[in-house]
Amino acid sequence: MEWNPSLSVGDVRIDDQHKRLFQLLKSLEGTPAGENTAQAYAAVAELERYVREHLRDEEAVMRSFKYKYYAAHCELHREFEEQLEILVARLTTEDHNIILQDIRVFVQNWLVQHISSADLRYKPFLLS
Ligand SMILES: [Fe+2]
Repeated sequence: MEWNPSLSVGDVRIDDQHKRLFQLLKSLEGTPAGENTAQAYAAVAELERYVREHLRDEEAVMRSFKYKYYAAHCELHREFEEQLEILVARLTTEDHNIILQDIRVFVQNWLVQHISSADLRYKPFLLS
């Protein structure tokens, strides 16, 4: 799955961050944990860090135009961060290869679903 113009939210910086997230997911795909655990951990850490940075930036953008569904949208972000944190924690106790794939699939599915529903919902407000 890659970013495509149908996922554009109308803000270049946020679109670029979404593109970068898809790239980071791809780099995770090419990281076999069994052969290079340190590299896999680093890729997950970078994904997690960038997810947080992106969500904060997007929330700042929504505040800038006083988005009326801001609180509900932030709630979705927090839920996602919590679920991601739980998955990442499982890396230390469970099979790396399985959890890495779980993380990649979970983040990818969430991202596509979240952008195409929640994020696109603020687009008309942002552009108006
Ligand atoms: Fe969002």
